[in-house]
Amino acid sequence: MAEIRIRSSVGEYPVLIGRDLYENELPDLIGRIRPTSVAVVSHASIMGLHGKRLIEAIYPICGGENGVFQYLFAEGEENKNLSTVEDGYEVFLASGINREGLVVAFGGGVVGDLAGFLAATYMRGTRLLQVPTTLMAMVDSSVGGKVGVDLKGAKNAVGTFYQPQAVLSDVGVLGTLPERELRGGMVEIAKYGLLYDEIMLQKIGKWHDGLPENAEELDGVIAACVAHKADVVTVDERDLTGKRAMLNYGHTFGHALETATAYIHLRHGEAVGIGMLMAARLSELCGLAGEGLHEYHRCVLMPILKDVVFPRDLDAGRIVNAMQSDKKKGHVMRFVLLQEPQEPRLVESPGEALIMRAVADIMRDMKGD
Ligand code: GLY
Repeated sequence: MAEIRIRSSVGEYPVLIGRDLYENELPDLIGRIRPTSVAVVSHASIMGLHGKRLIEAIYPICGGENGVFQYLFAEGEENKNLSTVEDGYEVFLASGINREGLVVAFGGGVVGDLAGFLAATYMRGTRLLQVPTTLMAMVDSSVGGKVGVDLKGAKNAVGTFYQPQAVLSDVGVLGTLPERELRGGMVEIAKYGLLYDEIMLQKIGKWHDGLPENAEELDGVIAACVAHKADVVTVDERDLTGKRAMLNYGHTFGHALETATAYIHLRHGEAVGIGMLMAARLSELCGLAGEGLHEYHRCVLMPILKDVVFPRDLDAGRIVNAMQSDKKKGHVMRFVLLQEPQEPRLVESPGEALIMRAVADIMRDMKGD
């Protein structure tokens, strides 16, 4: 098992990565937190696949079924909204959980964000344990305390920073993850490779048929991503200095793609993957990077994105409009671009014409026109 410590303004917490962690680590972890009751926030499908293992580990520590309740909500980014949060508050209230309780976020990025927001706001803060079940959540979203929900026209527009007591990533659960979700996680790993880690890119370049069988290799890459994130969160927890903003590589375009397609047609990872292609093209067009950066990104990302069906009716104007409402900083749009691989730069206002051209170039490529 790997253990990475995250230092934050409210203390230090561990991210545990390995196998059989629900059986071997969860009881001790919850035993140390000593909650009066536990709210498991998840989806019915995840509970069906892995809930028994989780619940069996929690029951003995929390006084059996009276001490544990579930709030299950419908899957999909389109449900990561305030209405789902309000339903959650009602369930929490009816269960009697209070500030001495513990919220367990058991699922992927959507569950982690929404459950984290519930934990941060219910009774002004209930403790939180992140138990991610997707590759994307394990390598990125469960770590670092960003929690929140979407508004109709703007992803993650409502939220806060709320650090968990711990993150427990049992890599064994990825065995049941659908291929599309795995590839979304691989995009997020590629992001860490393109930003910081050439060796990681060499490793995932060999994962043509999906994740490696070798547990050590897979767990090692997940731990390496978390270690990169730990370095960033330690120096810029609240996303103020530009260091943490680098982790948004591909996200300005990606969020706009998700918003413009109403969170339905493209998964988060797919949108971020396409977003990184757009960012690489924009890096070339604005003269920051030499020609070849986009082609390099194609080599890294297209094997992962090969099955993505790009919505044919989407046009570049709609994406740029969505971007303007999603990522405003005053009237300036900020982009993470690369001078070359592992050399990220934050660029303000590269110019709408160039942005439009980068979007249009990649869309043509994705549509095969
Ligand atoms: N996923 C980007 C961040 O946590 O800042």
